[in-house]
Amino acid sequence: SVIYLKDYQVPPFLIESTQLRFELEDDRTLVKAELRLTRNPECQVKPRGLLMHGDESLRLCRLAVDGQVLTAKDYSIDAGTLTIAEVPDQFILESVVEIDPAKNTALEGLYLSDGVYCTQCEAEGFRRITYYLDRPDVMSVFTTTVVADKARFPVLLSNGNPVAEGDDSDGRHWVTWEDPFPKPAYLFALVAGDLKHIEDTFTTASGKQVALRLFAEEKDLDKLDHAMTSLKASMRWDEQVYGREYDLEIYMIVAVDFFNMGAMENKGLNVFNTSCVLASQKTTTDAGFQRVEAVVAHEYFHNWSGNRVTCRDWFQLSLKEGFTVFRDAEFSADMNSRTVKRVEDVQLLRTAQFSEDAGPMAHPVRPASFIEISNFYTMTVYEKGAEVVRMIHTLLGPDQFRAGSDLYFERHDGQAVTTDDFVAAMEAASGRDLTQFKRWYSQAGTPVLDITDEYDPSESVYRLRVKQSCPPTPEASEKAPFHIPLQVGLLSPEGTDMPLENGATTVTLELTESEQTFTFTGIPQKPVPSLLRGFSAPVKLNYAYSQAELVFLMQHDSDGFNRWEAAQKLGVIILQALIADYQAGRELILSDALVGAYRAVLNDTTLDPAMVAKVLTLPSQAYLGELSTQIDVDAIHAAREFAMNALACALEAEFSQAYKRCLIDVAYQPSAEQVAQRMLKNLCLSYLLRAGKPEYLALAQQQFSDADNMTDEQAALALVVHSNYQDAAPAMLSQFYSRWSQESLVVNSWLAVQASNPCPGALSQVEALMQHEAFNMKNPNKVRSLIGAFCGQNPVNFHAKDGSGYRFLADQVVALNELNPQIASRLVAPLTKWKRYDETRQQLMRDQLQRIMDSAELSRDVYEVVSKSI
Ligand code: ARG
Ligand code: ZN
Repeated sequence: SVIYLKDYQVPPFLIESTQLRFELEDDRTLVKAELRLTRNPECQVKPRGLLMHGDESLRLCRLAVDGQVLTAKDYSIDAGTLTIAEVPDQFILESVVEIDPAKNTALEGLYLSDGVYCTQCEAEGFRRITYYLDRPDVMSVFTTTVVADKARFPVLLSNGNPVAEGDDSDGRHWVTWEDPFPKPAYLFALVAGDLKHIEDTFTTASGKQVALRLFAEEKDLDKLDHAMTSLKASMRWDEQVYGREYDLEIYMIVAVDFFNMGAMENKGLNVFNTSCVLASQKTTTDAGFQRVEAVVAHEYFHNWSGNRVTCRDWFQLSLKEGFTVFRDAEFSADMNSRTVKRVEDVQLLRTAQFSEDAGPMAHPVRPASFIEISNFYTMTVYEKGAEVVRMIHTLLGPDQFRAGSDLYFERHDGQAVTTDDFVAAMEAASGRDLTQFKRWYSQAGTPVLDITDEYDPSESVYRLRVKQSCPPTPEASEKAPFHIPLQVGLLSPEGTDMPLENGATTVTLELTESEQTFTFTGIPQKPVPSLLRGFSAPVKLNYAYSQAELVFLMQHDSDGFNRWEAAQKLGVIILQALIADYQAGRELILSDALVGAYRAVLNDTTLDPAMVAKVLTLPSQAYLGELSTQIDVDAIHAAREFAMNALACALEAEFSQAYKRCLIDVAYQPSAEQVAQRMLKNLCLSYLLRAGKPEYLALAQQQFSDADNMTDEQAALALVVHSNYQDAAPAMLSQFYSRWSQESLVVNSWLAVQASNPCPGALSQVEALMQHEAFNMKNPNKVRSLIGAFCGQNPVNFHAKDGSGYRFLADQVVALNELNPQIASRLVAPLTKWKRYDETRQQLMRDQLQRIMDSAELSRDVYEVVSKSI
């Protein structure tokens, strides 16, 4: 059944306080709840009864209202709800339910991760723990007691501050936690296990001492330092940039290996996927270090943007996620290289989010309806949602944006609100009218800007004519114009920024109509426009640049992002021509323009090596696919392979020199500077392996053996495994496995390297690995590393013409549908994009979607995605 935003109604009852007692035992867990309920004064209707959420898996042992035990005639239970026929206006509801965490493979609610009890309640997991009003606009003060065997579960955690503890005579012990901040049930958390921790303290701006404790299994205790450093940096940054302080006496993070997503911002007790919190030089790549920093910050920032101010309903998910992603992106930009961070975020947005926007599951940042909310933790809600907040920041400027966020937090602290409330605070603080801007929240689809220009030398006038349009998406075929901030600079023929209004070199043009012309006066020469600087809006932009203009922008644009973008655009033009040549059976020839441009960048030692690496990376297979009307996987792959091989041969000497320049002889650090050097070094190695000389295989093997860090070791492994040196791969793979078989996260990268191998035979390799001791279908990280990587990062093999990849994915989706619906429904995404491929593949993909549809009983999660895409 479909749930609609327009049907929202305030809850008839509120829960003033929630007292929970968990008795954890091997074959069952008892959950006792004592809820103080009261009618919601804001609710117009006064139903006689009370309807609560509760999963079918709950076994009700006792139910009492104000101490009166209810019998079967007083209430009814059906799939998902419990209804008590009649209740007073204010009362205490007691319940006891029995649940079975050991059998919980969906990893929602209370479950066991490698023997550690933990919870995941967002979005609707709490109803798998007990009967409750499991909706974010019901906020309650929680007191939680956890009871368990002391020897096996020495650590017992929940939200808030610990207030009491004790030992029972039977070897069990208990701890009581109190969280003074009212919160919705989705922010509840409980952890019990044999965990160790590291500890530090943070003194807030107003002088409050906060204890910081990060928990993990003993073997991983040495991998928590980076998370601790990141946490302290995040706490300081939120004080300095947003004026937000932490509010409890203790902040805890727990690392667990079985987790559906990245991490969860439960009040005072974050639960993290090990992949987003553990980091060490030997086992974690630079990208891994940066992910840990970003996710720790993200969850910390939620304490204000999410917890203190939360969502009224799940249609508002981007209220907290879009804002928090924007906040964590700005944090990462401040900690590392701002331009590199922006390039990486835009690459992700333009591949994954744009393709979502063009597919059958396209939805607005604030969806209007859903079947299963878990399906809406999407690139659109998170990443596009963050772009929407970034555009507000651009339109208002940093000072008014800060005033708006201050007002938002002040107005709504302790409330559950909407994206409209967020925008209203921004409007009130800035005096700007954002009515039209709000279409970004309600209209799906990626807007397209078609730009032309003209220069009139007699009047020194330059004009930009901008047309905006937006393709239809499932929820609407017609789109009203968006309010789009288009940041623009004009370059003189000498390559300098021309002064525009008030001497500024970048101006923000505000598009509000489907067609607009912007006039610049006093322009002495015909400029080269630098359009959409910093990627100031999540749009596609067409302007007929010549190759020479793009090379010019690569060298001279003062906007670092647009220098990279010019290189991408040049790469796109050249690769699209190669793709057409390949399709027509013509000989492939690499353009001198690209070689020359690459050589200039490679030889310019004044540039940030990370940006050199980004510029010298051709547009990805995914991006080129996203730009095509019909995706020809093989042609795109062949064109890229050809271009990379040709570049390698043409620039071998330069790549070799740059490789040597990037060698580091000081101690490893995941600092922006060293990360940049390793990035460029490994990019050079990737080209050198294509130059056709065995000495470069030896170089890669030497790097593999000598590396003192996972970045260099894994890069060498992946490059050789994915190269033409197929004979060298098995030995390196088995060496790598025997070295790291005890490090689950490293083994994941070993699985992913093989699963994403474009060489023939990858599917049988993946099938063999599914039987390997290292694989476990119940662990989402393993599933993502093997099945997810094959279907998402190995286009040539996944889209094999015989349909074998599609059949394989359908089989796995059917199996996972029973075990873990959330993972199953995420995994199926590549099949849903069938419309983008040739007719033969379309048919093969649809056949497999139909096969999933016809198989057994589908979870809501898989049903929604598959039924909407057939
Ligand atoms: N709120 C979490 C975050 O973005 C995501 C948790 C969502 N989990 C889920 N199973 N849907 O940080
Ligand atoms: Zn989040």
